[in-house]
Amino acid sequence: MLKSATKCPEHVGHAICCVLAVSVLDTLLPCPMHPIAVSIFTVCPTLHKVIFQSLLASISPYYSVQEKMMDVLNIPSSLRIIKPNPISSIPTNRTFRTLTFASASASAPAPAPAPLSTDPKLGPQSLGHLTRPDFPILHQELNGKRLVYLDNGATSQKPTAVLKALQNYYEAYNSNVHRGIHYLSAKATDEYELARQKVANFINAECREIVFFIRSVVNNSPNLYNYQVCFYLTRNWQVILTVAEHHSAIVPWQFVAQKTGAVLKFVSLTEDEVPDVEKLREMLSRKTKLLVVHHVSNVLASVLPIDQIVSWAHDVGAKVLVDACQSVPHMVVDVKNLDADFLVASSHKMCGPTGIGFLYGKRELLSAMPPFLGGGEMISDVYFDHSTYAEPPSRFEAGTPAIGEAIGLGAAIDYLSDIGMQKIHDYEVELANYLYDRLLTVPNVRIYGPAPSRTINRAALCSFNVEDVHPTDIATFLDQQHSVAIRSGHHCAQPLHRYLGVNASARASLHFYNTKDDVDDFIRALHDTISFFASFK
Ligand SMILES: Cc1ncc(COP(=O)(O)O)c(C=O)c1O
Repeated sequence: MLKSATKCPEHVGHAICCVLAVSVLDTLLPCPMHPIAVSIFTVCPTLHKVIFQSLLASISPYYSVQEKMMDVLNIPSSLRIIKPNPISSIPTNRTFRTLTFASASASAPAPAPAPLSTDPKLGPQSLGHLTRPDFPILHQELNGKRLVYLDNGATSQKPTAVLKALQNYYEAYNSNVHRGIHYLSAKATDEYELARQKVANFINAECREIVFFIRSVVNNSPNLYNYQVCFYLTRNWQVILTVAEHHSAIVPWQFVAQKTGAVLKFVSLTEDEVPDVEKLREMLSRKTKLLVVHHVSNVLASVLPIDQIVSWAHDVGAKVLVDACQSVPHMVVDVKNLDADFLVASSHKMCGPTGIGFLYGKRELLSAMPPFLGGGEMISDVYFDHSTYAEPPSRFEAGTPAIGEAIGLGAAIDYLSDIGMQKIHDYEVELANYLYDRLLTVPNVRIYGPAPSRTINRAALCSFNVEDVHPTDIATFLDQQHSVAIRSGHHCAQPLHRYLGVNASARASLHFYNTKDDVDDFIRALHDTISFFASFK
């Protein structure tokens, strides 16, 4: 920093101050700022903000600490570029209940209370304890601490069975599908199609109703739907979504709306912070052509009554696309029971490989749709001036597919099915309640989404904020000091975060291989994190 500053003489003084400050701050933190250091900074009142802030960032990765240092140094807000703590409310054009915290006390956090649950389902013979050995990645220490992985909402870990299936494909029969007549190609084709059959059985669909997509399926489904939609979606036709949709279920439909003039309408939340299905029902009309709705929210942990919603939508002639990315990995999902027209899920969240997902579409709907992507394997005949197309699902799978990934997904489905999705769900409900109850004991915490009750089952995740601590600080400290992996940010749900009046939140998300011990370690680490940041007050 000093070297680059000397190229520009006006920065030399600032750089020297910065270097001095590094050593002073290093020795004094987290004590109050030493008067000598303060006076050094006062000599250079126009301290170059970029140099200064990169200095602060190099001293501490935590936003809260950096902000505190700037307060101590009396740095005017006009010189600050570090993001403010997002928990402070952001103006929104709606009224909503004010941000409340579990505990009104702003004093230093109390020590972690004893675990609440003695439920045997969470004990040493729990599903989590029994399945953990299948996941090699979980058995490692980072910085001398046991890894606690609580970022399953972003992606799940992979059991040995899936790793072996991938390795076996590449070692024993790697070849292209639907092309060669040689042994390897025939074997790869059989396994690829068997994987499709496994997906179909898993959600009670027919094989030809399952389209494999490379990359995110939710983003891709509008591509598929696009062409058909364009035929009849015109100005003033409506697509209804909820404010809690993932970006990948919003942005592609914005493309469609821009192209067609269709209107996107968003359903708000109830006071309990669940998408308001009664409002959704009122918004449905003959103008509604499509409803795009999640099954389980990746932020609120709420679970929507999809079968009910689908029947209302069908009453007005609308089709329903269900984003099941957070439900298929955690519960029994039966497309026939739901009567959904389309449903999408990602392999990597269900213990399968990244880079593949699937779209379920009712057979008659898929058959009526033209292809959205041209290339090999999606055709019946190709002439110089036109082509005819294969039947679904091939029609929508142009080019060489993600073969190993599909086979890996098939292995993941075998693994999940061997355990049983009902068993996974029942265990995760217990874990979800335990996580919620324990997190609620943390002072000044605000958990988003509905409180669990006899009628409300939350998914096993909690998005939360702690008053006066940036969620990214929480995630960074948990990771660096305690090897607890959670996520912070907007979780690809910026409209929802704005609606809730915050920029970001922290999120702990669990899967069936997590245990009560993981939750306890997380809560202990969170208390320590809060104490650390409270020491700067
Ligand atoms: C509800 C929901 N929908 C869609 C997605 C997108 O899935 P992918 O990560 O495969 O793009 C996610 C991922 O977090 C999600 O939680």
